[in-house]
Amino acid sequence: MTQLPGLLDTEAIRKDFPILDRLVHEDRKLVYLDNAATSQKPRQVLDALSEYYERYNANVHRGVHVLAEEATALYEGARDKVAEFINAPSRDEVIFTKNASESLNLVANMLGWADEPYRVDAETEIVITEMEHHSNIVPWQLLSQRTGAKLKWFGLTDDGRLDLSNIDQIITEKTKIVSFVLVSNILGTLNPVEAIVRRAQEVGALVCVDASQAAPHMPLDVQALQADFVAFTGHKMCGPTGIGVLWGRQELLEDLPPFLGGGEMIETVSMHSSTYAPAPHKFEAGTPPIAQAVGLGAAIDYLDSIGMDKILAHEHALTEYAVQRLSAVPDLRIIGPETAEDRGAAISFTLGDIHPHDVGQVLDEQGIAVRVGHHCARPVCLRYGIPATTRASFYLYSTPAEIDALVDGLEHVRNFFG
Ligand code: ALA
Repeated sequence: MTQLPGLLDTEAIRKDFPILDRLVHEDRKLVYLDNAATSQKPRQVLDALSEYYERYNANVHRGVHVLAEEATALYEGARDKVAEFINAPSRDEVIFTKNASESLNLVANMLGWADEPYRVDAETEIVITEMEHHSNIVPWQLLSQRTGAKLKWFGLTDDGRLDLSNIDQIITEKTKIVSFVLVSNILGTLNPVEAIVRRAQEVGALVCVDASQAAPHMPLDVQALQADFVAFTGHKMCGPTGIGVLWGRQELLEDLPPFLGGGEMIETVSMHSSTYAPAPHKFEAGTPPIAQAVGLGAAIDYLDSIGMDKILAHEHALTEYAVQRLSAVPDLRIIGPETAEDRGAAISFTLGDIHPHDVGQVLDEQGIAVRVGHHCARPVCLRYGIPATTRASFYLYSTPAEIDALVDGLEHVRNFFG
């Protein structure tokens, strides 16, 4: 078995993930390499979810009975865990949403309805990048269409990195917000936050970071990032679906208007007007995803018990090995950085002129799960002149043997298509 320095004890870790034992297509061992789409869930998270429903289920912030109080304590306890996990200065800066897309839409709508000095209007500019997930493009296009604000973006270099050569022309005195991804879901690129934040701060623009592909894989410190908003989702970090996070700086959350109105986000309501609860509740209208938040809390406990530094080192070792092995496959072109430096553990590639959907299907027949398509980042495919990619993405339970299986699988694909 291939041994690499820095690997976690995957034999022990994999015992926590029941799904990793299952067979697919009758007798094929599952090789799950679609972690950038969603991660698998450890027993600890599955147990927390069923325990919540078996013992504590009630609505939060509303009842005076025991279950309501216990459910509220669990839900708010999950907020504490998230705050600590991302080193937030205050738990009140952590807003629960349903996913990262909702978090990013929330930021766009807060700014769209805001008064000065935050208001986005026809005199102002919004900056994103060409490597964004659609969830960090479309909300800004909608805001731009609604307000007349100009939408600008950083382009990409041939090796899959942000082209910041014209940073002073892209981020200007007119820029209200710069929103960009920390780790690209399609290219795997880890972006240089510091340079972007420095320029944004020079012109007084706000910064929003999409950390969906970072929070599961590396220590995330919102204070060190110096951003104003950070969005991520629970289901990619061992948590359940249906729970996302938006972290925002406290003074911004105090000043900015709510987007969704409803129960529990108010202070008082009359038939003429309402006043709002303080953040984070101002931004959590209606019954929140309670069990999902509890599940995310359990996922954070699980990741902490292993250590984010160790998870990062594990994935770095795997990525180095995967880049080396994939680069030796004839006709394979990595779309994105071709080294393991400054990149995450998602690797996209094309294989000659075999369509990625065909690659994915033949891999699937061998039990290997990858994602194929444009990965909700179609502008990246357009930039590199390809219809789609095949993407393999790793996590804390991934092994070198699974990378070997992928490489063998690709050999089979090549033979199959002659
Ligand atoms: N954003 C997820 C992915 O990249 C769904 O696959």
